[in-house]
Amino acid sequence: MAQRSYRIAALPGDGTGPEVVAEGIKVINAAAKKFGFEISFDTYNWGGDHYLATGELLPDDAEETLKKYDAVFLGAIGSPKVKPGILEKGILLRLRFALDQYINLRPVKLFPGVECPLVGKGPEDIDYVVVRENTGDVYTGMGGASQVGTPDEVAVQEMVYTRKQVDRCLKYAFELARKRHSKENPWKGLSAEDKAAGYTAQLTLCGKTNVLTYVFGMWERAFHEMGKQYPDVKLNYCHIDATCMWMVKNPEWFDVIVTANMFGDIITDLAAMTSGGMGISAGGNLNPEGVSMFEPIGGSAPKYTGLGVINPCAAILAGAMMLDYLGETEAAKAIENSVAFCTEKKLKSLSAGKMGYSTSGVGDLVAENL
Ligand code: IPM
Ligand code: MN
Repeated sequence: MAQRSYRIAALPGDGTGPEVVAEGIKVINAAAKKFGFEISFDTYNWGGDHYLATGELLPDDAEETLKKYDAVFLGAIGSPKVKPGILEKGILLRLRFALDQYINLRPVKLFPGVECPLVGKGPEDIDYVVVRENTGDVYTGMGGASQVGTPDEVAVQEMVYTRKQVDRCLKYAFELARKRHSKENPWKGLSAEDKAAGYTAQLTLCGKTNVLTYVFGMWERAFHEMGKQYPDVKLNYCHIDATCMWMVKNPEWFDVIVTANMFGDIITDLAAMTSGGMGISAGGNLNPEGVSMFEPIGGSAPKYTGLGVINPCAAILAGAMMLDYLGETEAAKAIENSVAFCTEKKLKSLSAGKMGYSTSGVGDLVAENL
């Protein structure tokens, strides 16, 4: 068998980004050794410090550079020394858009031993995936302002979607629902009638069809049209506000949720808090036809920078998602299992400074228990 070999661009970024990326790489390297593949990392130090020192957010050819890699592994972008929006738009959002990473995949999974703020809910209740559209919506930056700073100031920021953007996102979500579950392994939230009707999985569209009638009217039509090609996937619709409610009250009602960019941003922070917090929540910015970028979904946590107390599990799980995406499914599963072992048996808490281990101590534990 030919040697499997991967080249990764590492973007540690700001704040605690470099600390958690180092642990992610440590665990990935241990997995590479154990599962017999090669993986190498080239580091690019783009972020707040680079911007302050040089005035450059990203080099003009950043996208061309990243396209030469099999994937991108990102730490965190955002610095208290730079006005909000500059680094986020100039680096993170620019890369998502320029690399056309149209899916932001955010699994929501409560690991064993992890304290859950939802009373009476355990790991069997919280295990779903949010497919957040990642290129449209208010994130396109279309709009403008006039008479800024006067009492007559006007500001407009448009929610923008094309049918093509909606369709490609829905297609990914339907295929994912089908991949997660099958006749042999149906989603456990299905009733006997659902199963008799031939369903094996559920896809929930989260929108706001009662107010945002143009945009979510289009999403809803597209959802039902495409749904005809997936008779095994049960279609479900929830408004964004109700989705928030059910995520707290009945998270076991969800299998795969698909939603627009802004709603997806908001509900995945809520979802993270129901499943152990930012220390353990990972995501992938995917371009199934191009280069994808994996990241812990929390921020740069400036106040913990350099202290060695931040939880690297989110970055480690982002690394596992990356390996899964590259086809190293066994290694990915082993990392996830090792994280689960550590949350259940080793870590006192997932919060920074309360884990009972340092940042690198957690990385060592996960690597040793692969
Ligand atoms: C996220 C973040 C970003 C977003 C910010 C930093 C631009 O909150 O990845 O969820 O809004 O997408
Ligand atoms: Mn966010």
